[in-house]
Amino acid sequence: MRSTADSMSPARVLIVDDDDSVRKTLCAFVENVGMASIEACSGEQALMTLRDAETIDFIFLDLIMPDIGGMEVLKEVKKIDSDIPVIVISGFGTIETAVESMKLGAFDFLCKPFDSEKLRDVINRAVRKGKPQCDDVYHSAEDQCKPWEHLGISLTMREITSQVELVAPTDYTVIISGETGTGKEVVARAIHERSQRKNGLFIPVDCGSIAPTLLESELFGHEKGAFTGATSRHPGKFEAASDGTLFLDEISNLPSEVQPKLLRTLQEKTVVRVGGNKPISVDIRIIVATNRSLSAMVRNREFRRDLYYRLSEFEIDVPPLRQRREDIRFLAKRFTDQCRFELNKDIKGISDKAQEILMSHEWPGNIRELRNVIRRAVLRCDNNVIEENDLDISRESEPVKTLDASFGIRVIGENSLSELKKGAIEQIEKKALVHALKKTRGNMAEAARILETDYKTVHSKVKRYIISIEQIKNGRNTNE
Ligand SMILES: Nc1ncnc2c1ncn2[C@@H]1O[C@H](COP(=O)(O)OP(=O)(O)OP(=O)(O)O)[C@@H](O)[C@H]1O
Ligand SMILES: [Mg+2]
Repeated sequence: MRSTADSMSPARVLIVDDDDSVRKTLCAFVENVGMASIEACSGEQALMTLRDAETIDFIFLDLIMPDIGGMEVLKEVKKIDSDIPVIVISGFGTIETAVESMKLGAFDFLCKPFDSEKLRDVINRAVRKGKPQCDDVYHSAEDQCKPWEHLGISLTMREITSQVELVAPTDYTVIISGETGTGKEVVARAIHERSQRKNGLFIPVDCGSIAPTLLESELFGHEKGAFTGATSRHPGKFEAASDGTLFLDEISNLPSEVQPKLLRTLQEKTVVRVGGNKPISVDIRIIVATNRSLSAMVRNREFRRDLYYRLSEFEIDVPPLRQRREDIRFLAKRFTDQCRFELNKDIKGISDKAQEILMSHEWPGNIRELRNVIRRAVLRCDNNVIEENDLDISRESEPVKTLDASFGIRVIGENSLSELKKGAIEQIEKKALVHALKKTRGNMAEAARILETDYKTVHSKVKRYIISIEQIKNGRNTNE
């Protein structure tokens, strides 16, 4: 059958109905559990989608439609691919139509309006038919605590899932880049879990939070007496992660004195403990993460070029949540489920209005921010649906309001003078930054020189105002 080749990519569901509201309901239902929906508002469109070799795992098919009726479409679908499960839906369900559609090879028959329990059950069965090795899409709370098993439903995250699957079986070193909270560690974990090293350890080390003097011994270990306080021998993280994966987070913070030692370890696949001289073999896979561009750091001589090339055997860029909005609803649902189990609250879902608010927010803190917003909402919610007033986004969205600050947001006469002043300064700062960055084709160090400030200030403001260096480099317009 023309189902997706692997069990990790989300199922694709074709929803055929001439009634917009029915399609919307079914789309929301399947997307909420991480599947991708493709809509067709007529039988003809549905058949075109199938013939265009779109990968479809199963179909919801309305019976009464203006052009070609559902029964006719069903017959054609079966000619194109006899294995695709087709769930026939009808507002005028009679035993006869149900029997007739089943005779024509329908997988099941559902009456409108839908009963959510029946809908869940039929979806689980249809997914299992196409992907027998696949678990129910309605995960248990425990499954939901393993976000690396299903990264998202947006096209971008599905592409990232394919990259993860491509690189996982190899021992290639991977650089994962992206803004804070986008899920870089989760992607690293996904690679480990799908690799042959999955029974070994996945050991994360935050290169930014360990003092440079301690980091060397933390990574490579030390011998007894190597330095004051080294009272016993200590194998480092490289040795501990042997047969597994070592995840070096915030690699951009790796002190320059440790960089050559890391390079040597990667090349020779051996470590020498601090204070020791015997090389110890390690069988290791390295994945690193960064929220700064390592190639730009190389250009600015802040990161060793040879180490960068050694690390960049494969690169994955995880985009911010605001550039893959389809994932918002999916993740919000996932976090709601996780949290309602944890707090033992009977919460059925998120209201349409609250979903709209979630969808329109910019999420500067990305998935981590969304998770926190939902966790607070579940805690606050006092009936069984999360409403807009349960969402407390303002605290985390403060920087965004000022980011995109057009004077329209800060209305003269409605905002305090200090707020107006702050907004105006931010506007000017952002304009000046974009201007300087355009002039230097995205080079932050040069922009810092023009603006007579330091690199760190430019870097942090670029992040704060969400200025896309990529867009600037590609000569695309950024909203100054
Ligand atoms: N696909 C996902 N599904 C569910 N939760 C996710 C997903 N991706 C990330 N998260 C959650 O979002 C939070 C941030 O993810 P993670 O730590 O991987 O981000 P990061 O990019 O490494 O952040 P930082 O740059 O701050 O280190 C974590 O709580 C993680 O469990
Ligand atoms: Mg991280």
